Amino acid sequence: MSSTESTTTMFQGWPEVDESKKLLIEQIHTFAESKIKPLAAKLDATGEFPTELVQQLAEMGIMGMMVPEQWGGSGMDVVSYAMVMEEIAAACASTAVVVSVNNSLVCAPIALFGNDLQKEKYLKPLAQGKKLGCFALSEPGHGSDPAGLECSAKKVPGGYQIRGTKNWITNGKEADTALVFATLDKSQGHKGICAFIVDTKTPGFQVAKLEDKLGITASSTAQLFFDDVVVPEECLLGKPGEGLKIALNTLDGGRIGIAAQALGIARCAFDASKRFATEREQFGAPIAKLQAIQWFIADMATRLQGARLLTWAAARAKDQGLRYTKEAAMAKLAASEAAMWITTKAIQVHGGYGYTKEYVVERNFRDAKITEIYEGTSEIQRIVIAAQELAALSKT
Ligand code: CAA
Repeated sequence: MSSTESTTTMFQGWPEVDESKKLLIEQIHTFAESKIKPLAAKLDATGEFPTELVQQLAEMGIMGMMVPEQWGGSGMDVVSYAMVMEEIAAACASTAVVVSVNNSLVCAPIALFGNDLQKEKYLKPLAQGKKLGCFALSEPGHGSDPAGLECSAKKVPGGYQIRGTKNWITNGKEADTALVFATLDKSQGHKGICAFIVDTKTPGFQVAKLEDKLGITASSTAQLFFDDVVVPEECLLGKPGEGLKIALNTLDGGRIGIAAQALGIARCAFDASKRFATEREQFGAPIAKLQAIQWFIADMATRLQGARLLTWAAARAKDQGLRYTKEAAMAKLAASEAAMWITTKAIQVHGGYGYTKEYVVERNFRDAKITEIYEGTSEIQRIVIAAQELAALSKT
């Protein structure tokens, strides 16, 4: 059974997965299998950014999937986005995160909080994939706790001057546009934080360091330094002091994208494990005949599908305009932990072969780990879920 067949059967009970969605997934699946997958191992080994793949995905309307057509996007819903992200990640997790950050962390907040000028000037080229975006929130001393960030913004005639360091910035090396969070007044706590759209060609913008990572090696992770970068007033996104809310609202959406990325990584490892188990013989029969292996396969299938349903439920809640903070956190928690578990067991199914670079599960295992960390660690997702559950109880 191909990956698409197995996904199609899972559409049962999801009336919103209509023929057009199935066609879209089929198209992306074919592209991912024929164009992305053959390059993935080389991209992983060299750390080369997937420039051509990103261009091709842009031509297919995938870089600004949920942005209205008026602003250069494809005007699709979030369920479609999650399904597309899973397909791309099943072929190459690095390419998937490049796409996810541009869609969820840069296009989405400009589409939601931006004015028409910002949408015309900044959003359109990002959504069309003519430009690439990054989301600059984390700092060396502020990862899980962005409310205390130290990057500063100062009002200057005609605009703002930004100074500070940002860490762990996906797409940081290649980005044309950075969404940067900085505080205008630290004494106001999180109410001093603002969001700025920054053209990375502005004098003072520097890529200070590139991280050498365990996985997703073909996507860049950069430390950025803003050395008194002056941006015009038009670059303030939303109102002064709204920065943290914009960041956290944006991360709610981002978490659906990362959940879908984790699903793709897990699915790749799961499919590889099923193939290997039916081909590999020990004790005179395929190892798939052994109950130990069957239990791994059963648990992989169950964890993968459970996480997928949570991811689609979060996406559907967002599509319906409901608050989906908890649902997105649950989706990311379940999918990233499923991905880590499934890729670990996938290596176990493959035995010694799985520990070598010859088999995709080795890459899947390395790529899975980051999904438990970026856009909020698993521990942060638990904080978000518990806070929502307890708040709901205190209201009753
Ligand atoms: N949407 C909108 N606003 C929100 C919100 C949400 N989901 N959650 C909270 N807020 C608002 C609150 O209402 C509050 O505003 P008021 O004071 O006006 O009421 C304000 O934000 C602060 O809320 P909290 O006091 O609850 O916030 P906190 O400081 O205690 O933090 C947290 C809560 C859940 C721990 C949050 O800080 C968090 O999610 N941390 C993780 C950050 C993260 O995911 N970082 C990853 C960065 S991106 C990345 O990984 C790099 C990359 O390139 C991929």
